[in-house]
Amino acid sequence: TARLFSGMQPSAESLHLGNYVGALLQWKKLQNDFDAIFCVVDLHAITVAQDPVKLREATRRTAAQYIAAGIDPESSILFVQSHVAAHPQLAWVLDTITGYGEAARMTQFKDKSQKQGADATTLGLFAYPVLMAADILLYNAEVVPVGDDQKQHVELTRDLATRFNSRFGDTFVVPEAKTLADGARIYDLQNPGSKMSKSGESPQGIVWLLDEPKAVAKKIKSAVTDTEREIRFDPKAKPGVSNLLSILSGVTGTPVAALEDHFAGKGYGDLKTETADAVVAEFEPVRTRALELLDDPAELDRLLAHNAERAAAIADETLRLAYDRVGLLPRV
Ligand code: TYM
Repeated sequence: TARLFSGMQPSAESLHLGNYVGALLQWKKLQNDFDAIFCVVDLHAITVAQDPVKLREATRRTAAQYIAAGIDPESSILFVQSHVAAHPQLAWVLDTITGYGEAARMTQFKDKSQKQGADATTLGLFAYPVLMAADILLYNAEVVPVGDDQKQHVELTRDLATRFNSRFGDTFVVPEAKTLADGARIYDLQNPGSKMSKSGESPQGIVWLLDEPKAVAKKIKSAVTDTEREIRFDPKAKPGVSNLLSILSGVTGTPVAALEDHFAGKGYGDLKTETADAVVAEFEPVRTRALELLDDPAELDRLLAHNAERAAAIADETLRLAYDRVGLLPRV
């Protein structure tokens, strides 16, 4: 079976509905067809300022939510990036074959560095995509499921793998990005023109996986729609309604076209109620399970340690090969 790798940054309180539909639900399905490895990328998180106490807790909480949502930590590998030293080690080697201009062209770096300002823009933020390349290449991953925003980074990974292979001999598998289906992108409920994101402006626009069921229902029922009455999927003209259809389709697995038929002649109130009920039904058991797992942090930490060992067994071998290819003297 082909190898698959993906990762997500730890987030403070909880993952949100966008991460859930766009990443977790997809990963859960894909793990059955691939030899799947999922990573909580805490080393990526520290490329912007973090509170140390919160970061540690966020990493645990994120891992708990992966498991609660159905990522199987036995058939798949689920680990924390900083637990496997080979990641920054390979990243250094890849840094030495990455052009300055090549890294400076990454649009996420350009956006983030502009937001941060020159003083807060660090070497770490600049090297972020190279660390991501190391994540992927260490495991010989063929497939990398990501949102559109990460596609450019996977392209860079392909370029670096190809460059390394031609300079030093065949070493890395050249991976392919697998971007998600159309409806898998979830937008802010209050501001359906922008992607649902943890840094969104209105707290009412973001649904958290660990929200109380009542809060989940309330946010969905207060979603911004439009002044028409027709329920149809048309993200340009009807971003709010289309977003609700994407959410309902995402959590129930019903195609959007079938939902349009189902809602023919019905009103926005029906769409909101059904969507709220579906999300509450989907999230409630995940929330309960995640909170249970977080009740026993020692057990969770042991599970992550065990998974880190499984990941390191693969990563260390690739790192050794790469070190050898570039001519580093092995320690005997
Ligand atoms: P990150 O942490 O920003 O996002 C994690 C995943 O969640 C998806 N996502 C969404 N999907 C749908 N709707 C939304 N509103 C939404 N918001 C987020 C993202 O597309 C993503 O797939 N650099 C990566 C993490 C990473 C990685 C890797 C990924 C590090 N190393 C190696 C793959 C392979 C990131 O910051 O994702």
